[in-house]
Amino acid sequence: MAKVLVVYVTTTGNTEKMAGAIAEGAKGAGADVTLKAVSDASVAELAGYDVIAFGSPAMGSEVIEEGEMEPFFSEAVASLSGKKVAVFGSYDWGDGEWLRTWEERCKEAGAVIAAEGLKAHLEPDDDAIAECKAWGAKLN
Ligand SMILES: Cc1cc2nc3c(=O)[nH]c(=O)nc-3n(C[C@H](O)[C@H](O)[C@H](O)COP(=O)(O)O)c2cc1C
Repeated sequence: MAKVLVVYVTTTGNTEKMAGAIAEGAKGAGADVTLKAVSDASVAELAGYDVIAFGSPAMGSEVIEEGEMEPFFSEAVASLSGKKVAVFGSYDWGDGEWLRTWEERCKEAGAVIAAEGLKAHLEPDDDAIAECKAWGAKLN
């Protein structure tokens, strides 16, 4: 059974809703899932998971959230080589550039992309939640 970590940051709850649905989808597919806000996670624990899904809204100017996720992810990069990784998050006015850049950073770190980056516009609606569940099911 794959051990999956869904680690996210959120400012208004939208990425958190995605994270919950992703975790549910992964569980439904038989994974052993841990869901955590990044403030409760440590880079050291990443080694204990087979798959890591990182979630952050688009912030600043098309970047991941800079207060918690950016420092966590920049430290995590060193442990992502060969690891199955995927990125997701909520956005508003952009075209998803923040997510493409983030996924690129994962690839540069030597990670294996477990599922193509998933974005939801603002608060995920029922369709977006269903998409999150299906995406979560791929994280194995
Ligand atoms: C300071 C700030 C910067 C933002 N920058 C972007 C951006 O560059 N591109 C974008 O598409 N949305 C941007 N947004 C919109 C957020 O990504 C959007 O509101 C998202 O749903 C927030 O998700 P959360 O509730 O998980 O924090 C920004 C929002 C704020 C408050």
